[in-house]
Amino acid sequence: MEEMEKSAVRRIGVLTSGGDAPGMNAAIRSVARSAFRRGIEVVGIRRGYAGLISGDIFPMTSADVSRIINRGGTVLYTARSDEFRSVEGQQKAAATCKLLGLEGIVAIGGDGTFRGACDLSKFGISVVGIPGTIDNDIVCTDYTIGFDTAANTAVDCIDRLRDTMQSHERCAVVEVMGRHAGYLALHVGVAVGATAVLVPEYPYDFNEHVAEKIRRARLSGKTNFIIVVAEGAVPAVFVGEQIRAELGLDPRVTILGHIQRGGAPTVKDRVMATRMGYEAVRVLAEGKTNRVICAEGDRIIDRDIAEGLAMKKTLNPEEFKVMTVMTGT
Ligand code: F6P
Repeated sequence: MEEMEKSAVRRIGVLTSGGDAPGMNAAIRSVARSAFRRGIEVVGIRRGYAGLISGDIFPMTSADVSRIINRGGTVLYTARSDEFRSVEGQQKAAATCKLLGLEGIVAIGGDGTFRGACDLSKFGISVVGIPGTIDNDIVCTDYTIGFDTAANTAVDCIDRLRDTMQSHERCAVVEVMGRHAGYLALHVGVAVGATAVLVPEYPYDFNEHVAEKIRRARLSGKTNFIIVVAEGAVPAVFVGEQIRAELGLDPRVTILGHIQRGGAPTVKDRVMATRMGYEAVRVLAEGKTNRVICAEGDRIIDRDIAEGLAMKKTLNPEEFKVMTVMTGT
């Protein structure tokens, strides 16, 4: 029998908050299993910070996290809580933690979730964040859980669109998620061999970013075109109208929407979620607080959560350059 690892905390809570992402269940499972291994009790908190305010919680057992590693969504449900944005809401959430003896909270989500964790920490609660969002837009980590699955889902959908666009010699304008970040659009656009990719990080210019690329592609003999648009760049419907009006094509617009957020997580998301869940528990067990778990190259590390939130992320310039070459300018 292996010796149980020592821990600075005896009972912790785990929650998921903000937009769900495939792999969140794998992270919950890993947090629970890693904690049990150290003799730490785990409480599941439903509906993110809202559940912490209302006390919608339950003691987790090993059975609660059985057979969830392969499931999309989050078994803990998720929400964006308006009440938690107020100091009163935060006080109530902190009071729940104290009442239940929760010495640490693992919060799985995006940057809004991490800001919430920072707010909670001001009331003396130890917090650690795990990055989970399909947008991959969290500044301090190279990777966020859910991105790989969402990108593969979008690529699968667009490959299907390509077949019919090819048969009819048409143009498809496809909107992928990403209100503020173009990572998903950039990766998906490169992977499907798009004619053009539009991202929110670069101001939209129809002539430069769409018309010119379609003209060049036509000159090289192409008769079908895929334009990938991040939702935060410009509405795909608007791009379609411009293509019709100015280039005389008959485009079809598809908005992939929340399809991208569902489905079984890929191997990468399951493994990353499991590694990050393990690290989150290690950090709390070592008595650390205000940390965020990050991927740095091949390593999983932890950083100060406030410092992590303050970092500025831009699109990887090398990846962006490759996209511009592949799309022909
Ligand atoms: O943050 C993840 C994300 O999927 C964004 O890409 C998208 O803009 C947003 O969530 C959609 O949120 P909601 O679930 O509220 O429609």
